[in-house]
Amino acid sequence: MDILDIHAQHFSIGDWQARIDVLLERPGEGPALFNVDPRDRREYDAIYLGGGAGGRFGSAYLRAMGGRQLIIDRWPFLGGSCPHNACVPHHLFSECAAELMLARTFPGKLWFRDLRGVATSIKEVVDLFREGRVGPHAIMNFQSKEQLDLEYVLNAPGTIVDAHTVDVAGRRFRAKNLVLGLGARPQALRCAGAELKGVFNFVNLVEELDYEPGPTVVVVGGGKTAVEYGCFFNATGRRTVMVVRDELLRIVPDEETRGYTVDRMKEQGIEVLEGSEIERMDGDPRGRVRGVVVRTPDGRREVATDFVFCGLGEIPNSEMPARVLGVKVGPGNEVLVNAQLQTSVPNVYAIGDLIGAPMEMFKARKSGVYAAKHIMGQAIEYDPKEWPDFLHTHYEVTWTGMTEAEARAKLGKIIVIKMPPDTPDGLEVALPASDRTMLYAFLEPRMSGHQKLIIDARTRRVVGAHHVGYGAKDSFQYLHALMKQGITIDELGDLDELFLNPTHFIQLSRLRAGARELRDL
Ligand SMILES: Cc1cc2nc3c(=O)[nH]c(=O)nc-3n(C[C@H](O)[C@H](O)[C@H](O)COP(=O)(O)OP(=O)(O)OC[C@H]3O[C@@H](n4cnc5c(N)ncnc54)[C@H](O)[C@@H]3O)c2cc1C
Ligand SMILES: NC(=O)c1ccc[n+]([C@@H]2O[C@H](COP(=O)([O-])OP(=O)(O)OC[C@H]3O[C@@H](n4cnc5c(N)ncnc54)[C@H](OP(=O)(O)O)[C@@H]3O)[C@@H](O)[C@H]2O)c1
Repeated sequence: MDILDIHAQHFSIGDWQARIDVLLERPGEGPALFNVDPRDRREYDAIYLGGGAGGRFGSAYLRAMGGRQLIIDRWPFLGGSCPHNACVPHHLFSECAAELMLARTFPGKLWFRDLRGVATSIKEVVDLFREGRVGPHAIMNFQSKEQLDLEYVLNAPGTIVDAHTVDVAGRRFRAKNLVLGLGARPQALRCAGAELKGVFNFVNLVEELDYEPGPTVVVVGGGKTAVEYGCFFNATGRRTVMVVRDELLRIVPDEETRGYTVDRMKEQGIEVLEGSEIERMDGDPRGRVRGVVVRTPDGRREVATDFVFCGLGEIPNSEMPARVLGVKVGPGNEVLVNAQLQTSVPNVYAIGDLIGAPMEMFKARKSGVYAAKHIMGQAIEYDPKEWPDFLHTHYEVTWTGMTEAEARAKLGKIIVIKMPPDTPDGLEVALPASDRTMLYAFLEPRMSGHQKLIIDARTRRVVGAHHVGYGAKDSFQYLHALMKQGITIDELGDLDELFLNPTHFIQLSRLRAGARELRDL
C-alpha cells in the first residue's frame, strides 16, 4: 500500500474536505496518510487502534498529559462512526421528523402547505447527509493535526501483531500500551430474504440508498435506532409499520413518559406490531424486497414494501483482538474490561462501543480519556452505572435518575411535579410551552410535551426528571450532575430560569419550595 507522508504539510479544512471526498469515493484505495513525527524519538505510550470518538478523545488527553500517542484508522478521517453514519445522520433525520410533524399537524393553516397525501423524499435527505458529512470529518482531521498535535495514520486498516505492536500499510509501530477502540457494527436480521436489496440498517442506508422508497416502510426493532429512523420515515408521509419482538421503547424507563411518547407516535399514524417477528422477506425478480411476512400474536400478516429498515442493536468488533491476543470477550461479543479499562491481556485496554453497553458518545469519549489517564499513571475508576439519556421520536425524549415507580418503591413518600397537570383535561391545557412547542400549545395543546420531576419528600432532593418536548437534552446533562450532588427542590427553585424554558422545573419548584410539607403539583 502506498504511503503519503503528510506530517510536514499543512492542509486547510477545505483541503481536507476535498481529499477525504476523493478517498471516500474509492474505499480501500488511495495512500495511507502518515502524520507521524519523525523527530520525536520517544517510544509511544499508546497506540489507539480505531480513531472514533474513543480513540480521538483518549489520544488528545494522553497527548495533553505529555505522553506520545498514535491513532490508526482504516477511514480517511478521525471521529469514527458518529459523524459518518450514526449520531449525525440520526440528528438530521430527527430534525426532519420534527419539522415535518409540525407541517403535517397544521395542513393549510398559517403558512403551512397542505401535505395530506404528499410523501416527501427520503432519498433527498440521505443524499444531503452523504454530501455534507465530510465537513465534520475535515474539521476533525485539521483540529487533531494542527491544534491538538496528534500523530495518526489514516486510510489504512491496522493489524494487531502482539500486545505492543500494530502493522499498518506495511509498517510496524510499537507502543508500551495498546488501546482498542474498534467500535461495533449493526446486527443483521436472520430470516429468509434478509439479504435482499432494499433491506437497510444505519450503515448501508447512508452508503447505498439509490431509489425513493415506496409508500410503505417496515421497521424492525423497538429501541433508539429503530424508533428514530421509523419516526423520520413516518414523517415523510410513508405508512410505517414497526415490528417489535417485545415492547416498543422499553428503554424509556418512566411508564407515564413512555405512554405519552408512544401515544404521540401512534397518533402520527405509526402502526406498531408488538410481540411480533419477521418470518420471511420476499423478493422481486430483480432481487429487491417486495414484501414481508410478520408473525404477530394474532396470526401472520403480510406487508407489501420495497424498503425495510433494521435497528437491531450492534455487535462489538472484537474478533481480531480475541483471535490474535486472546482478550476475553463477553456474551454479546464485547471485550471485557475492568474499571481501569484493562482487558484480560496486560497492557491492552479497550474503550467505547467495543466494550458493550451503553454504546453512547459520552462513554466512548470518557473511556478513551480514562484509559489515557491510567496509562499516564493516574489512579482511575470508570464503570458508568448512571447517566442522563435521550432519544428522538418526532420529539426529543430525555430522562435522568429514578422513574416515579422506582422512587416510590425505594423512597416511600415522593413528590411529583408535572406538566401538563394531572387532571382529566390536563392534556388540553396549553402547557408546557416553550421553544419549538408554542404552535402546538396554542393549536394542539396535547402535543406540546410532557415533563415531570420527582422529589424525595423526606430529604427534598430531586431524584428523577423526565421530559418529552424539545431542547431539554442540554439542561439534563447539567441537571444529572446537580442531582448527583444532591440538589434539593429549594436549591432548584432558587436558580435563574431563562423563561420560556423547555423544562419548567425551576419555576415549578419555586412554587412549591416554600412549603414545609411538600405536595404534588
Ligand atoms: C444510528 C445511531 C445513532 C446514534 N446516535 C447517538 C447520539 O445521538 N448520541 C450518542 O451519544 N450516541 C449515539 N450513537 C452511539 C455512538 O455513535 C457510538 O457510541 C460512538 O460513535 C462509539 O464510538 P467508538 O469510538 O467506540 O467507535 P467508532 O466511532 O465506531 O470508532 C471505531 C473506529 O475504528 C475503526 N476501525 C475498525 N477496525 C479498524 C482496523 N482494523 N484498523 C483501523 N481502524 C479500524 C473504524 O474505522 C472507526 O473509525 C448512535 C449510534 C447509532 C448506531
Ligand atoms: N443516543 C441516541 O440517541 C442513540 C441513537 C441510536 C443508537 N444509539 C446507541 O446505539 C446502539 C444501537 O442502538 P439500537 O437501538 O440499534 O440498539 P438497542 O438499544 O440494543 O435496541 C435493539 C432493538 O432491536 C431488537 N432486536 C434485537 N435483535 C433482534 C432480532 N434478532 N429480531 C428482532 N428484534 C431484535 C431489540 O429487542 P429486545 O429489546 O427484545 O432485545 C431492541 O428493540 C445502542 O447502544 C444505542 O444506545 C444511541
